[in-house]
Amino acid sequence: MPQSAMTQPAKIFQRDPFRILLVENIHPRAREVFEREGCQVRLETRAPSEAELMEWIGEYDVIGIRSKTKLTGSVLGANKELLAVGAFCIGTDQIDTGRAGLLGVPVFNAPYSNTRSVAELVMAEIVALSRHLGDRNMETHKGVWLKSAAGAREIRGKTLGIVGYGHIGSQVSVLAEAFGMRVVFFDVVKKLPLGNSQPMESLTDLLKAADFATFHVPDTPQTRNMIAAPQLNVMKRGAHLINASRGSVVNIDDLAASLKAGHTGGAAIDVFPQEPASNGETFVSPLQGVKNVILTPHIGGSTEEAQEAIGIEVAESLLRFLKTGSTRGAVNFPNVDLPVMHEDAHRMLNVHRNVPGVLSDINSVVSDLNVNIQAQSLSTNASIGYLVMDMAKVEADQVGERVRDLETSIKTRILY
Ligand code: NAI
Repeated sequence: MPQSAMTQPAKIFQRDPFRILLVENIHPRAREVFEREGCQVRLETRAPSEAELMEWIGEYDVIGIRSKTKLTGSVLGANKELLAVGAFCIGTDQIDTGRAGLLGVPVFNAPYSNTRSVAELVMAEIVALSRHLGDRNMETHKGVWLKSAAGAREIRGKTLGIVGYGHIGSQVSVLAEAFGMRVVFFDVVKKLPLGNSQPMESLTDLLKAADFATFHVPDTPQTRNMIAAPQLNVMKRGAHLINASRGSVVNIDDLAASLKAGHTGGAAIDVFPQEPASNGETFVSPLQGVKNVILTPHIGGSTEEAQEAIGIEVAESLLRFLKTGSTRGAVNFPNVDLPVMHEDAHRMLNVHRNVPGVLSDINSVVSDLNVNIQAQSLSTNASIGYLVMDMAKVEADQVGERVRDLETSIKTRILY
């Protein structure tokens, strides 16, 4: 037997029922999605230690975690039969996704389940900044009665500049127009304007036009510090700034200086260059105590609805992978999305090292066995290739076993 075949899972037919381990109190809707499809689910409320994971992981086809559980290369490598990982959150830094890919294990997350939650917070902040709600609220709590219309404005008819017109930015656009705002946006990619919104030629044009500028861009070399003193200075005096995207986007010292100088009229900041790792840790920022500044602890996407949506979205991605082999949305895997297979067919899923000659080896197996391929799809990244092949039922197990035994194969599974 070739060497790699000995280190690969022996089984090519899927387990029935699938066994799922969900830790860290994942939303109950995830369990419902799995159980509706006949999966066996074990729930743990806390984040297990590495030692516990090493002990447990061998029993499961899928593990679902949130942000606190560390899935190291050693944990992932401890179960050769592991089929997939679900990150029931946005980030995947807690998972060795590179190693997972090399082991043939796709990792799924839910990057867009909290889009609406962020957009709603931004709308609340636009109104709050325009009416100085943060300051009025604080004074009234302290027993100070300060009723005044000075500087308080309606947002109707004001211009909102949206930087980054992706999932969140475009939702904000729709909500802001419903409030009667004029919306302009700037994106590095050409985007279809929603409603009456208007694209701007440059960030500078947007900043000059905006009464409120809100940022919805990813963290990239181009977006780091994209708002510092020179950009703040081109904005209108009294204009407001909102950042609920990434802490690296706005230079906080420059913003604090501009607010204190009375140029920037107010700011709502949800994300910071340095954020405490856990609740209860002290947080320090130059923006603390500055007038008309709303500070929130990265809660833009933190709602009950978003948690539920994450539970459903990740569970459905995992089930789709288990049942059809689709890797749509996997963060570490070539994306392949084939329709449900024909009822006369079996489907082989093969993950292999992306080296020259693999396809010709697989094709030799297929032609040696005189197999009729009904459909196939191959997608690769720099290190692995993922092949999905539908064929007649009688032939699938022979093909699967011989493909599994190829020296380049990492993981091979047959769906039926
Ligand atoms: P998305 O990927 O759907 O949209 C980002 C948009 O920014 C894209 O249209 C892209 O073309 C554009 N873009 C990239 N570089 C740009 C540049 N230099 N100038 C202008 N536009 C640029 O992302 P989504 O889901 O809308 O998220 C936006 C941001 O919000 C991300 O940074 C994400 O991490 C953050 N976020 C924050 C949350 C919170 O709790 N505060 C929750 C969810 C997301």
